[in-house]
Amino acid sequence: MGEKNEAILPPKEFMRRMPWIRSVDEYERLYRESIKNPEKFWGKQAEALDWFKKWDKVLDETNPPFYKWFVNGELNICHNCVDRWAEIQPEKLAIIWQGEPDEDVRTFTYDGLKQQVNRFAHTLKRFGVEKGDRVALYLPMIPELPIAMLACAKIGAIHTVIVGGISAEAVKIRIQDAEAKMLVTANGYYRAGKIKDSLEIAKEAIKDCHSVETVIVVKRIDKETHLPCCAECQKPVYSWWEQEMEFYDYDFPVECAPERMSADDISFLLYTSGSTGKPKGVVHTTGGYLVYVNTTMWYIFDIRDNDVFWCTADIGWITGHSYVVYGPLSCGATVFMYEGVPTYPEPDRYWELIEKYKISIFYTAPTVIRDLIQQGTEWTQKRDLSCLRLLGSVGEPIDSKSWLWYFENVGKKRCSLVDTYWQTETGGILLTTLPGVHSMKPGSTGFPFFGVVPEIIKHKESDEECNEPDLRRSQCSVGEMGKLMFSRPWPGMLKGLWKDPERFSKTYWHKFEKYLSGDGAVEDEDGYFWVTGRIDDLINVSGHLLSTAETEGALISHQYVTEAAVVGKPHKIKGNELYAFVVLGKEVDMDKEFQIVLVKHVREKLGPIYTIREIKFTEKLPKTKSGKIMRRVLRKIAAGEKNITELGDLSTLADESAIQNLLKE
Ligand code: WT7
Repeated sequence: MGEKNEAILPPKEFMRRMPWIRSVDEYERLYRESIKNPEKFWGKQAEALDWFKKWDKVLDETNPPFYKWFVNGELNICHNCVDRWAEIQPEKLAIIWQGEPDEDVRTFTYDGLKQQVNRFAHTLKRFGVEKGDRVALYLPMIPELPIAMLACAKIGAIHTVIVGGISAEAVKIRIQDAEAKMLVTANGYYRAGKIKDSLEIAKEAIKDCHSVETVIVVKRIDKETHLPCCAECQKPVYSWWEQEMEFYDYDFPVECAPERMSADDISFLLYTSGSTGKPKGVVHTTGGYLVYVNTTMWYIFDIRDNDVFWCTADIGWITGHSYVVYGPLSCGATVFMYEGVPTYPEPDRYWELIEKYKISIFYTAPTVIRDLIQQGTEWTQKRDLSCLRLLGSVGEPIDSKSWLWYFENVGKKRCSLVDTYWQTETGGILLTTLPGVHSMKPGSTGFPFFGVVPEIIKHKESDEECNEPDLRRSQCSVGEMGKLMFSRPWPGMLKGLWKDPERFSKTYWHKFEKYLSGDGAVEDEDGYFWVTGRIDDLINVSGHLLSTAETEGALISHQYVTEAAVVGKPHKIKGNELYAFVVLGKEVDMDKEFQIVLVKHVREKLGPIYTIREIKFTEKLPKTKSGKIMRRVLRKIAAGEKNITELGDLSTLADESAIQNLLKE
């Protein structure tokens, strides 16, 4: 006989739905604990997930920088994001999707989502996709994208989502590097009133991708679309998504058992710009990644049962992976997803959607905010935004003016605003304030999240011109800008770079066992962190990291270009714009027309997000005696500096005439 009056615990899925932290003291106590005993802290957080097999050890640090989390633990991401919620709350909405045309609305309950995911999981299997195989997802913001991601997770296939807006060539490089077996795409999508084609780019991209056996196409747009048939080309086989999903009768539920994944198995690859030409395939794990996004979701977004959570990021970026799909769904939350852009058909599209769908948590990027400020404050006043309770910002530093506008006009001074700092590589948020706990300073990313140990190390501008700069420098003092690093591992951190362990160690750990972010930062007297932006060879344009090396490579690939240097020039709305210094061969005139030719050439090579705004032709680039381009000097010239004494240390400059010429005009 069982005990009478046994205490009945609420399902553990709901235990987190109580306010966890109420004061700065509590944050500080828990933060200290998380640093003193990370294994205990993260072990406890991991209990919020369902594990098929519990881990033997929370953190294995024996082989840095190859850290392992939840050693020998087994779980499935899709089970944690979909199946277990479909069991507990089958009728709760998991995804509300709004297409750009008003009438295109689709909603999925947790049970409904599970059905779709299971159907696509079986489709993957039918086409021979197995655990560990790569599946490339080149899809717009439509529900099929999260469905395909979750279906991959269910069977243990590794997805790599390829973001829109890059060229066919760039799509090809990613698919080839990942050696994807399948590609999922759509016959188009809506963007600012126009129909865009993704299938044509996909077809062009996979011409030389021999690993791709199958292409599944979602019929997003009701238009005549011709799929190549097998008779035309032996491989790959093309098929419609809708047709494959109907393989099983819609009258019956479809079951699909989740694959038991080891915590350290790869869940997905996501490509991000690198300081050297080739994009990096950032590898994320299963256990560590999910525990991290789940934990940040509870604490930072304070997610509750009746929230409607809207993160405006495209799923093709890490923000979308972690905070449109895996974070909120692993908490059983309701996610809102939108296909279109912020200002179409009217500049208040976002505010209209917030009002219509009663969005309670809204997470967007400074570039969007700056764009919407330009549209005029009257657009926010037209709508009832009282449903909002929490706002977030991510992707680049937010200036205090935009911060205040967002806080006052959108949040009506009632909502906490979390400015969250993180990266593709970090998996989830590293620096932020906690809502309702910390007082906010406009423009500051606040404090380290649990388990995160930031350090700011002295920085010399000329580091970028040395082959092996000595980074074993001392820490900065309060108020001093330096290199932002993280000295302890956290569960969401990348596992490595796809097929390139050496580049992983070199890029992020460089001689010493600390994670190098590539950003500059300052800590103020109250312990708030202020991220100042990239101090490496990447440029942040509208929240997208673009690579100087890739852009320069594309310029040089033009037959008349002999040398090129690309830098960021500050821009009011986009944060930065691409500015190129170009040296031409003798046979061509340095005129406006040729500038346009070059801009087009780079767009074709890399895609429209790589649009160079200004090109300055020059006969020489400033270089160090060892031949490195002095980009820090070019950055200042691009920003309008005319005075040679303001350009910083020029002692290593090989030929001063290179600079004098640039300063002349
Ligand atoms: C870079 C990472 C994290 C998802 C979006 C971008 C910049 C990101 C902030 C912020 C200042 C920020 C950094 C970082 N960044 N968030 N709140 N304040 N800068 O992911 O493409 O990997 O870019 O974005 O420079 O290194 P990503």
